[in-house]
Amino acid sequence: MDEAASFDFIISLIYERCRIRLHDGKQSLIKTRLGKRMRLHGFENFNDYCDFLKHSADEEEITHVVDALTTNFTNFLREQDHFTYMVKTALPAVIPPGKKKLKVWSAACATGEEPYSIAFYLAEHFPLTAGWDWRILATDISTKALGKAKAAVYAEDRLTAVPPEWQRRYLQRGHGKWEGHYRVKPAISERVDFQQLNLLGQYQFKDTFDLIFCRNVMIYFDRPTQEQLVRQLAKFLVPHGHLFTGHSESLNGLDTGLRCLKPSIYQKS
Ligand SMILES: C[S@@+](CC[C@H](N)C(=O)[O-])C[C@H]1O[C@@H](n2cnc3c(N)ncnc32)[C@H](O)[C@@H]1O
Repeated sequence: MDEAASFDFIISLIYERCRIRLHDGKQSLIKTRLGKRMRLHGFENFNDYCDFLKHSADEEEITHVVDALTTNFTNFLREQDHFTYMVKTALPAVIPPGKKKLKVWSAACATGEEPYSIAFYLAEHFPLTAGWDWRILATDISTKALGKAKAAVYAEDRLTAVPPEWQRRYLQRGHGKWEGHYRVKPAISERVDFQQLNLLGQYQFKDTFDLIFCRNVMIYFDRPTQEQLVRQLAKFLVPHGHLFTGHSESLNGLDTGLRCLKPSIYQKS
């Protein structure tokens, strides 16, 4: 394969497995992330490694490739229909009249784009200036990802999905050495609490959550583990609270006690 065909092969592989589109411009990321696998198999040339993947690699090697390219993958406003559902349907279903307090958990927050996307939507629809009080708990197993999330600084090309008006409202443009970068404004970032947490470990919270986002992490777990995890998450939801999973993560056939409202949207009854 030539280089263009090699990248096409990798991009299709990741799309088929995870529904993640690694767009053009991700070539150097793909090469860097697969470097370790290439060297392990004695390849010096990226195209030769892709030939090997296509024709003779086993499923285990393909899994390593998928992991290397997707483990911390995230984006602002990823799977955006969840955010509109959150503000239009899920939260109105759980907020009692007169209550102006909300709690949302982003349970595998990676580098922060998911909790900040939630925050942008909440700021728009439940403004702090109108007396709303909301907080987001954002957790992940990776301290490295959490470090980036807490810093709340993103290169301009990470923000293409965020409407320009929201960029002006919720992000600060960097200057000098931060030219080309944006930081989430403190009014938003101080509403998000970050904490390291292994979803498969032992944990307790003082409060329950109105909503939980646990997206694009369950694909890494087997079915019994997914079932156990969802039952555990459900304990931390308020009655009628919602759980969002990734678009490619179905809980069909699992005994979770949650009602499926739409693919990837579940409710505690
Ligand atoms: C592909 S990212 C998903 C990020 C975000 N939820 C989204 O949908 O864009 C998966 C995240 O799950 C985290 N993760 C993997 N295993 C975990 C575990 N056992 N407990 C908590 N987080 C975990 C990884 O560190 C990674 O940041």
